[in-house]
Amino acid sequence: MATKLSVNINKIATLRNARGGNVPDLLKFATDCERYGAEGITVHPRPDERHIRYQDVVKLKPLLTTEFNIEGNPKEKKFVDLVLKTKPAQVTLVPDALGQLTSNHGWDTVTNKDYLKSIIAEFKSAGIRTSIFVDANIKMIEGAKETGTDRIELYTESYAKDYSINKERAIQPFIAAANWAMELNLGINAGHDLSLENLNYFAKNIKGLLEVSIGHALISDAIYFGIENTIQLYLRQLKVAI
Ligand code: PXP
Repeated sequence: MATKLSVNINKIATLRNARGGNVPDLLKFATDCERYGAEGITVHPRPDERHIRYQDVVKLKPLLTTEFNIEGNPKEKKFVDLVLKTKPAQVTLVPDALGQLTSNHGWDTVTNKDYLKSIIAEFKSAGIRTSIFVDANIKMIEGAKETGTDRIELYTESYAKDYSINKERAIQPFIAAANWAMELNLGINAGHDLSLENLNYFAKNIKGLLEVSIGHALISDAIYFGIENTIQLYLRQLKVAI
């Protein structure tokens, strides 16, 4: 089965917010991404609403026909309320701090086990699939299993950074983490700094990779290639990996 491509549209909201109007139109962009082949749309609302606004999330839900994935820190009550109200296909829990530029670490699933267990149960009882953002670390994968989450999202920044230096070495912790997650019957997603350059090798080596969510590189590529072509280029990287 091919890995699903979920397009993170935060950057489109950042561009729109720069002028205060509605250009580019985020809702149209999201539905166009679906038309061009995206198999999911990801948003990451943050409390300061500097890119995706809470109202965007509410408006997007009835328009989308693919998997809607909302990422964020559940320690913000406003985030939890938004997810429970919107009921996306998936919520991805990320331990990012207030005002953080971008997510830069996974959960410590051991220290936060009880907390994650209870918030995951709340989302799951609302019929929302859960995923938690984790580093490629066996102890954190084992801790993730204890929380009851459906899936993990492997934080791929270190892979992306080391890919050009030594891709065989860069992928090793991810292969080990993914194999262990499969053994424990956890679904596997991945994201952060994945690109046209490094995506194919990642998908080829990570068996059972269900979904990647990609924002920064994909939207940057779209400046050169257009969004329709860019989505096709990313899908091709995933297809040739099967
Ligand atoms: N996954 C998570 C949890 C993220 O926070 C982000 C960035 O918002 C991504 C994936 C996508 O990362 P990128 O924008 O580098 O593709």
